Amino acid sequence: MKTAETISEIRKLVNQLKKEGEKVAFVPTMGALHDGHLSLIKMAREYAGATVVSIYVNPEQFAPHEDFGTYPRTIEADLERCKQENVDVVFMPATETMYDSGKKYFGIEIDVLNVHLDGGSRPGYFQGIALVVNKLFNIVNPDIAVFGQKDYQQFRIIELMIKEFNLDIELLMAPIGRATDGLALSSRNAYLSKEERVLAPGLYRALTYVANQIENGVMTPDLLINHQQDELEAKGFKNDYLSVYSLDTLQPVEQLSKNNRYLLAIAAYLGKTRLIDNVILEL
Ligand code: PAJ
Repeated sequence: MKTAETISEIRKLVNQLKKEGEKVAFVPTMGALHDGHLSLIKMAREYAGATVVSIYVNPEQFAPHEDFGTYPRTIEADLERCKQENVDVVFMPATETMYDSGKKYFGIEIDVLNVHLDGGSRPGYFQGIALVVNKLFNIVNPDIAVFGQKDYQQFRIIELMIKEFNLDIELLMAPIGRATDGLALSSRNAYLSKEERVLAPGLYRALTYVANQIENGVMTPDLLINHQQDELEAKGFKNDYLSVYSLDTLQPVEQLSKNNRYLLAIAAYLGKTRLIDNVILEL
């Protein structure tokens, strides 16, 4: 496995792989790799002969009050896991490499996809993600990119960005990797105290309860959702959102109908840890 820290190094390595006839699949991450990330890497390896993983905690997607400073950084363990997964190249740039020209663009502005969900709760978040992913795509120049359903809004925004900017990249979505108790794996789960970790799967339970009720015919789920949110608050969660959205436009939907696909998504805080999760509903 090779590692690259500069743009010229990574370009040389990717060009070499392409010259050898390999398709290159790219998995961008912020490190603190867990089994969810590894399933993306496995998918990348299924679809391409060569896999590039980036590890970069992007300051542009953190608001000043958020956890950029404390975000887990476990580079040695991450490199070891990448090696075990037969990753070809890990790109781990410094911030001076990524943003060397001084910031002239403050993110990429995004249309209606950014209004609700995390886009609504975290102003500037997806602008910062679109900016860094656009840069990473231009630097790595992959044939395929793999993103997780865990961050469905991110996936959708990147899908739109690829289309809008005419990037020649095939985008794949990997399913949500979960702990045995259902909790969606996340680098931020490392923030949970022992007690919080015991409570955390309650989020997935609330989500699957609502999903099951909808799949069993509840087409106006708002009362049901309010009730689940009250229960979560009683258990110690602080709710951000729990709603149904159009899978395509990510606009909230109150009255569901058959033969449609929806996103049921949840975000809540447990102590200082923000947890998100979702289910895709095909009615
Ligand atoms: P990060 O949170 O490290 O996630 C990297 C990729 O792993 C994303 O595509 C995310 O959706 C996926 N992922 C995270 N947890 C997952 C899980 N439990 N199951 C499946 N996939 C999971 O997302 C980012 O980093 C950043 O915003 C990034 C795209 C790297 C830009 O900075």
